[in-house]
Amino acid sequence: MSKNTDLVVAMDYPTVAFAEALMEQLSGLPIVYKIGLELFLSSGTEWVRKQTEKGTRIFLDLKFHDIPNTVGQAVLQAARLGAEFTTVHLCGGKTMLDEIDIKLQEAILSGQIQKKPRVLGVTVLTSFKEEDWIAAMSHVAKVGSIRNVEESTMHFAALANDHPAIGGVVCSPQEINAIRSKHPKLYTMVPGIRPKGFKAHDQGRIMTPAEASASGASAIVVGRPITQAAEPRLVAEQILQEMV
Ligand code: C5P
Repeated sequence: MSKNTDLVVAMDYPTVAFAEALMEQLSGLPIVYKIGLELFLSSGTEWVRKQTEKGTRIFLDLKFHDIPNTVGQAVLQAARLGAEFTTVHLCGGKTMLDEIDIKLQEAILSGQIQKKPRVLGVTVLTSFKEEDWIAAMSHVAKVGSIRNVEESTMHFAALANDHPAIGGVVCSPQEINAIRSKHPKLYTMVPGIRPKGFKAHDQGRIMTPAEASASGASAIVVGRPITQAAEPRLVAEQILQEMV
């Protein structure tokens, strides 16, 4: 049965051998596999293409942030690899998002790609503490008053909601309720998920899969509870079961 909330498994591994072993154990389950910078820089593009050509759902989480043309071209390359999801930093600004839209639109019209990826926006990285955020922002933006983390997050969520290039945001368990109530139709992907009884590791604020799903998360990201489990398939099946 298809669920309202997708399960994304973060393959934070140094080599494809680990990733392939995990995918083999989870084969047949409805899962999106997240490839971040670490695995991507080891796997290369052809391994990613091989996965998407087999029909594996891939989230290429490379969090692009550069000048508009460069990011537009990078997102287009992710689309050519068949990635279903990719990520950009929303602080790259509206012009950068406009360029993504133009590049993807052109590629669809010219038949270079059949489908646009869902481009997710990163608002404020959850690793930022309030004081670090203010310090970083006061360095780059001296004009006017500086927004705190919550204000910045909501500012970026509104930008994501209103922009045609962006198909959702990555948001922490702290933010999901505020974002959902302000932008009920915005796709939300939520990391920091721990099934009951699992270690939090370095995640500050956590939610269970059931709580995230009940809060309306469109997708949850789970890494170590699955990747470090003695029986990853069992944990993944339990997570899928507890989501609506
Ligand atoms: O479940 P686990 O804590 O192992 O998941 C970590 C994954 O979630 C990593 O791939 C990390 O990049 C991602 N992530 C996160 N917090 C965010 C955004 C992404 O932990 N705010």
